Amino acid sequence: MSPSSAASPSARGRRGVSREDGARPNGAAENASRPNGGEPFLSVRGLAKSFGDHTVLRDIDLTVERGDVVALIGPSGSGKTTILRCLIGLEEPDAGVIRFSGAEGVAEPVSVDFSERVSPRERRRREADLQRATAMVFQQYNLFPHRTVLQNVIEGPILVQKRNREEAKAEALDLLARVGLRDKADAYPHELSGGQQQRVGIVRALALRPALLLFDEPTSALDPELVGDVLRVIRELAEQGWTMLIVTHELQFARQVASQVVFMDQGVVVESGAASEVLGRPAQARTQQFVRRLTHPGE
Ligand SMILES: Nc1ncnc2c1ncn2[C@@H]1O[C@H](COP(=O)(O)OP(=O)(O)OP(=O)(O)O)[C@@H](O)[C@H]1O
Ligand SMILES: [Mg+2]
Repeated sequence: MSPSSAASPSARGRRGVSREDGARPNGAAENASRPNGGEPFLSVRGLAKSFGDHTVLRDIDLTVERGDVVALIGPSGSGKTTILRCLIGLEEPDAGVIRFSGAEGVAEPVSVDFSERVSPRERRRREADLQRATAMVFQQYNLFPHRTVLQNVIEGPILVQKRNREEAKAEALDLLARVGLRDKADAYPHELSGGQQQRVGIVRALALRPALLLFDEPTSALDPELVGDVLRVIRELAEQGWTMLIVTHELQFARQVASQVVFMDQGVVVESGAASEVLGRPAQARTQQFVRRLTHPGE
């Protein structure tokens, strides 16, 4: 993938890759990972969520810098998907603050304090700002079955973002070409393999030009031989400087691509830090056990 298209994310990738693109849909400013007065790109503080009397998230803190690739790992039911759903506004947290700085089209940092009593209208306005800043790639690709690949990709940009149809189409075709699917633009989802559908899912998220890309186990529904193609696309996005939060069980991939690994268990962050630390030398017994189980299944 070339970094010079309109959908490239940032002026400066996390590994210092320089960009020549004009548009920077990932909200990047020149040569600074903290353009907004030293604020992190995304900060989550004290996030809490219960369903009835079942507490699913408690006191979650997360900091994501521009260009970071954060791998969120943990056992089933630990709350990983719920965090992503809170970030994209599909779930309303009970408490906590989510703060975004530097998202495109949003001059001021967007901050939503879920413990604060604000009018429903004001709350909706802030949540809409958060939603504009993020896009999510789901575990199941969720493509509309009766629409072509191209129609699936341009729907959000045209209907939600009110962008010009021809421009959205040109950008969609460019993005499809970059994941090797230009020739499938007029195909229907059922005519594609699972891996191809998931790559369309990724393109659909990219077409929204989000500041932050969220992935929820993007390869877990795929046959093993299709996993590699999807991981390759994500790896390329990382190299281009996209800021991403990825829920994954692919520890090897996380180790190679993630700048930060966050291990969760039972609704809390148990341990976070550099991939080499959390996956290579986990400090907490729960992390050690989890990493061992995934790397040596059946032991
Ligand atoms: N809408 C809901 N209503 C009630 N309980 C829910 C709801 N969504 C999630 N939960 C519960 O919250 C807990 C965390 O779920 P979540 O989907 O976030 O876990 P996860 O870490 O993504 O797990 P997995 O690895 O299996 O996808 C689970 O116990 C789940 O049953
Ligand atoms: Mg999940």
